[in-house]
Formats: sequence, structure tokens, C-alpha cells
Amino acid sequence: MLIEYLIRITVMVITSERLLILMGLCDESFHFPVMIRVVFNAAVAIVIALVMSKLYKVLFAPLDLRRKLEDVGYVHHDHSVSREENIRDTQRRKKLGNTPPVFPNGWFKVADSTWIKKGQVKSIYFFGEQLALFRNKRGLLRALDAYCPHLLANMAAGGKVVNSDCLECPFHGWKFSGETGKLVDVPYAQKVPTFVSVKKWSCCEVDGMAYLWYHCDGGEPKWVLPSSVTINTLKYAGKTEHIINSHIQDIPENAADISHLDHLHKPVIGSDVEKTNESLLNNLIFHSIQASWKPPTDPNEPHRSTMSIKDNIHLSIFNIKIPLLYLEFEIDQIGPGAVHIHVRTPFFRGLMLQNVTPIEPFVQKLTHSFYVSPWVPVCIAKAFYLLETTQIERDILMWNNKTYFRQPVLVKEESALAKHRRWYQQFYSENSPRMNHRGDLVYPGKPKLADW
Ligand code: FES
Ligand SMILES: [Fe+2]
Repeated sequence: MLIEYLIRITVMVITSERLLILMGLCDESFHFPVMIRVVFNAAVAIVIALVMSKLYKVLFAPLDLRRKLEDVGYVHHDHSVSREENIRDTQRRKKLGNTPPVFPNGWFKVADSTWIKKGQVKSIYFFGEQLALFRNKRGLLRALDAYCPHLLANMAAGGKVVNSDCLECPFHGWKFSGETGKLVDVPYAQKVPTFVSVKKWSCCEVDGMAYLWYHCDGGEPKWVLPSSVTINTLKYAGKTEHIINSHIQDIPENAADISHLDHLHKPVIGSDVEKTNESLLNNLIFHSIQASWKPPTDPNEPHRSTMSIKDNIHLSIFNIKIPLLYLEFEIDQIGPGAVHIHVRTPFFRGLMLQNVTPIEPFVQKLTHSFYVSPWVPVCIAKAFYLLETTQIERDILMWNNKTYFRQPVLVKEESALAKHRRWYQQFYSENSPRMNHRGDLVYPGKPKLADW
């Protein structure tokens, strides 16, 4: 708006002067009074500054792309219903009940570390739970169930960090230890009911990201989340965030679904599958992908699996294939929520940190953080990762609209997919929450709530 307004002023001043001269109403030396010239010059300066800042952002600022649920991954054919209704209907129809549990056990990213400073309390919502994330006065990250057991205030809404490592409820001032979740102080009571506590979640921070350990039975983490290592030799190039409507297992399973790579991901450009498959450009230039997925080789780390992708981007003219670019991806899946994707191109190296975290059943937050060799201009890295993002968005159209079935029909060439499903079983346990046929969340291990 502002740019448009300033451009209008500038054009108006220039054309008015010229017009008056051309009409013979003023001689060649005519200029508007000083005040008008000053406004005009200021307008020109502001326009130039705004254009430069836009240009700076494009060339030097890291990628920052956040897609909401309605932004990508849905087809909207029936325009008699709104986009929002269409999405709601697609969600509702998908919850059929014959799916694996909805929250696997493991480490899940809940925030970037820089998002929460010393002494700050933040409200987060994952695994269908309202949580209070805070950083104590020593800089350690803590996470507690947000609802205070006293009168159920949300401690992340107005609560504060006190006594170095405690969360104080904003309602009546009860204090809970960040280390144990136990109630440590009731400011107006002579005797503190020490049996009272809130659930404490295990946290860790790796590669600049904050993770929580989710396990349906609680308990301590079963493995340590490793660093991606190469991150220290690369520079940050940006991040993307997508909200997805799918069963969580659909997302990691994509790695072992080798046969979709040369079909869904064949086009080079465009996330809109309906529009781009037939485009001339995508019939001239396309991906040709070879890939393999492997279950864990180290018995001490059964929660890890690997995948390798070799991608030849070709130009095809009169059925002659001319290789354009060769890319290699080495992928390390660590549990159900974290993936390190090491990228090698003929010109630079890269790293994509992929994280998926359940917000609630069938709603996942998928984030990617991108890194690249230090000498690569950010605009080049952004262009490269934007192209990768369009491929992810092609997957999102599939995930948002498909459902999940325990025993799909697979052919012999898809044995990796069957192996992946067996490998992934380790992240569920007897008490993992499930979705029933009515679309309700069921916690098998928990007693039913008593009637009011
Ligand atoms: S509700 Fe938290 S102290 Fe009362
Ligand atoms: Fe895919």
C-alpha cells in the first residue's frame, strides 16, 4: 500500500510538471515550489529504500516459509462449498479408525531453541496436550503439563519462572518444581500437600532445537538424540513449516515408498500436482531417481534407519536424455520425529533437518531447517531448497487426502515399505492412544472417567 502510494506521488509530480510545460502553460524552466519538490524527493528516496530492502531480503535473508493447513495440499473441485468446509469434510471422512495408534513414542521437536529465552514461559500444544515450556534461570529447558492441579488454570498463560527453577501459577501462586513437577509451595498455606504434582516432560536441545520425549506410559527417554554433526561446517539458509492432516506414520513411511519417487516426484517444478504434471517444462526436464531404504544395522540403535537417494535431473529432447544435475541424499531417520538429510551436489553440500510432531491425532507439524556450504549465496540456497519444498508439497497433497490402512496391497518390488512398517511398530506400545471408529481418542491404559 505504502509503496503504491509513494509511486503515485512521484509519477504525479513528474507528469504534472511535464504536462504544464507541454501545454505551453509554463516555460521549460518551470518547477514546482520547494515544498512539493521536497515531498517528491522524499517519496523517491523511500521508494528506493523499500525496493532495496525487498531486494536485500530476496538475496540475503534466510528462507522463512510457513504454510497453514488451507495453503497447500487440498484439491477444491466443488466450489459450492467453501475452502474451509472442503478441508473439514476431507478431515472428517478420513478418520476411519482402522489405523495404528496416533502418537508414537519418541523425541519430537516442539520449538526452535532461540524462541524461548532464560526466565520465559511459553504455551505449546502437542500430542493433544496443553503444555508449559519454560527456561529456568540457569538456562535449562523445562516442560510441565500446563493445567495447575489446584483450580486448573493454564500456567503457561501468565505463569512465571521463580526460585531459579520453579513455575508459579498465575492464579493463586502455587509453585511447581521444573525438575520434578512436584508442588513445592502454596504461598498462603501452612502445610504444602506434597503428594500433588504435575506431569514433567523430559526435554533436550540438539542442533538449536528443543525436543520433548513423548511416551504413552511416561518414563525416561530410551535413547539420546544425536546431533547432525555436519551442521557445524554449514551455514543456516532458512526454514519451512507445514501443517498436515495425516496419520503421523505416513510421513516417515514416504522414505521407504521407493516406487512413488519416480512418479509423484518426477516433475522438477511445481507443487500443484494437477497443474504441473502436464506442463511442457516438466516434460522436458525431470527427475530420475534411484533409492533404497535400510532398517537399522546397529543393534544398539534399533530406532534408526537409513535411506539413500540418487537423483539425476535430465533434459529430454527427441527421446535423447541429457544429464543436467546429479544430486545425492543420505538420510538418517532417528525415531519417529527427527530426520537428518545430508545433501551432496556437484557444487555444494547441504543439510535438511526434518521434524514431524503430532499436534493432535491426524494433525502434524512438519518443519525443515536448511543449511548449506558457507560460501554459497543465500539466494542460491533458497532457490534450491524452494525446489525441494515443492517436492515436499507434492507429498502433502497425498498425505492430506489419503487414509492409512494397516494391510495395503503391495507388490514384490515394495518390500522396503513392508519392512518399514515392521520397523516402525517399535514406536507403539500397548497403551498408545488410538482413534476409534467414531473419531474419539482412546487411551487403552487409562481408566474411564467417572460420571459427573
Ligand atoms: S489454579 Fe493454580 S494456583 Fe490456583
Ligand atoms: Fe515423497
